Amino acid sequence: MVSKRLPIDVDICGVHWKNRVTTASGTFAVQKRSRFYDPSQLGCITTKGVSPEPWPGNAQPRVAETYGGMLNAIGLENPGVDSYLEGDLPQLKRRGAVVMANIVGHAAEEYCAVAEKLAGSAVDLLELNISCPNVKEGGIAFGTDAKTAAALTARVKRAAGEKPVIVKLSPNVTDITEIADAVVDAGADGLSLINTLIGMRIDLKTGEPILANKTGGLSGPAIHPVAVRMVYEVRRKLPRVPIIGMGGVMTGADAYELLLAGADAIAVGTAALADPLAPVRVAAELEAYLSKNE
Ligand SMILES: Cc1cc2nc3c(=O)[nH]c(=O)nc-3n(C[C@H](O)[C@H](O)[C@H](O)COP(=O)(O)O)c2cc1C
Repeated sequence: MVSKRLPIDVDICGVHWKNRVTTASGTFAVQKRSRFYDPSQLGCITTKGVSPEPWPGNAQPRVAETYGGMLNAIGLENPGVDSYLEGDLPQLKRRGAVVMANIVGHAAEEYCAVAEKLAGSAVDLLELNISCPNVKEGGIAFGTDAKTAAALTARVKRAAGEKPVIVKLSPNVTDITEIADAVVDAGADGLSLINTLIGMRIDLKTGEPILANKTGGLSGPAIHPVAVRMVYEVRRKLPRVPIIGMGGVMTGADAYELLLAGADAIAVGTAALADPLAPVRVAAELEAYLSKNE
């Protein structure tokens, strides 16, 4: 086996993680999950997308099963940044967790409003979800155009004060390295990849899409090879930028594969929806891989 000599812990944009595992945004509900394990056992807890005002999310049905994964069109339902600052964030910090807040918006001003509020908070890192539709530009996702993605990154960086900004890339693009390069040039301190791939399923009885939103984001083991390929490509283009790899990590072996592709840390998402303990299990399994190679 090819070995990669890496310590168990890691520094991501100047923030120390005790191990290389975080939760993928949207898959760790603070109240529910904290009952299963102590959140400080992971290198970092990445929380679900937070917007300036509460977002209600999409109509039901919002999830559909697929081979090797699932489709979701939750629509980034969340109670807004003020509620986050009063609830989830202090709760996680009290328990000693490193916290990365995922930021969403429908316009640059919305992202900046959240970043400004979080700049003065106890949050450790910001993760900018650029897969949201840009309402002012006909609903095309910020993350699918290099110029738009770079402009958003630069504005959020200014709003974020001292907080490191990690840009979470969309895989729904022809060349992910072009977007990665543009956002790093615009000031991104690190990158997360990948977000979900756009998919659709059709109900054979009605002939209509299963999801009320028609399309949804594909996640889970089915997308793991896409994540490995994209992390590998971005790492080759940008040898030094911190990268958090994600997409279908079910085991320590999957996590280690993303590290071999060039990631510094990894996130566990869909696996935790079936087994809430998946992130801590993956951390232990990854530790065994890394210890073998010391
Ligand atoms: C139910 C669900 C909710 C999600 N919510 C968010 C979110 O709020 N912000 C975000 O950037 N990504 C969100 N994602 C994407 C995940 O963080 C992750 O990038 C993706 O699912 C790939 O990892 P996985 O295959 O391990 O789930 C969500 C994914 C799922 C399945």
